Amino acid sequence: VREPDLTGRHVVISAGGTREPLDPVRFLGNRSSGKQGYALARTAAARGARVTLIAANTALPDPAGVDVVRAGTAVQLREAVLKAAADADAVVMAAAVADFRPAAYAAGKIKKRDGQDPAPVALVRNPDILAEISADRALPGQVIVGFAAETDDVLANGRAKLERKGCDLLVVNEVGERKTFGAEENEAVVLAADGGETPVPHGPKEALADVVWDLVAARLR
Ligand code: C5P
Repeated sequence: VREPDLTGRHVVISAGGTREPLDPVRFLGNRSSGKQGYALARTAAARGARVTLIAANTALPDPAGVDVVRAGTAVQLREAVLKAAADADAVVMAAAVADFRPAAYAAGKIKKRDGQDPAPVALVRNPDILAEISADRALPGQVIVGFAAETDDVLANGRAKLERKGCDLLVVNEVGERKTFGAEENEAVVLAADGGETPVPHGPKEALADVVWDLVAARLR
């Protein structure tokens, strides 16, 4: 357990994965379990922070001593993040946010009709919350952290994404069929806008979370 070096700080963490509805029973979603975001929330609380956890479709119990706000879709998650970030010292976007949502929502369940081809699903872009809050900081000195799941050229793609998003730190994970999603452990490299590169060996999601908070706390001092 680290020093209570986040005492007096407000940190906001998004976790889980958004679901973008097609009709009342179907959605486009992803495999995020929310475990890394919840580990970030628990460790920040243990280090003394006031924590707002914005949870998208997770099945995890609320961490003790943390304010939990639920958000289902990317648009709802954006609203919740913008609101909580207004007085936050740090924002960590650990949620897997859908890049696209169905262009239309059918109020009634979409039916299959005999002899007809299925209708294609038209998509529209979702807002990029991380890029938006990084470009338009709610407070000077606010530290913003993003996550990136990459399957190849992990470091080069991560560095490009860090620049594109404009955040201060980017946690880059290598993902694949049997890696990361739903697992208890993680392995990552944390890239910093100032050029820093912190490898985090395979280990519990709490250990990666503590490295993230070490880097955030150093930037808040
Ligand atoms: O572009 P990509 O989805 O790989 O970026 C991942 C990072 O950006 C994550 O931190 C995620 O929470 C954030 N993100 C976002 N809004 C989106 C898509 C991703 O904030 N629409």
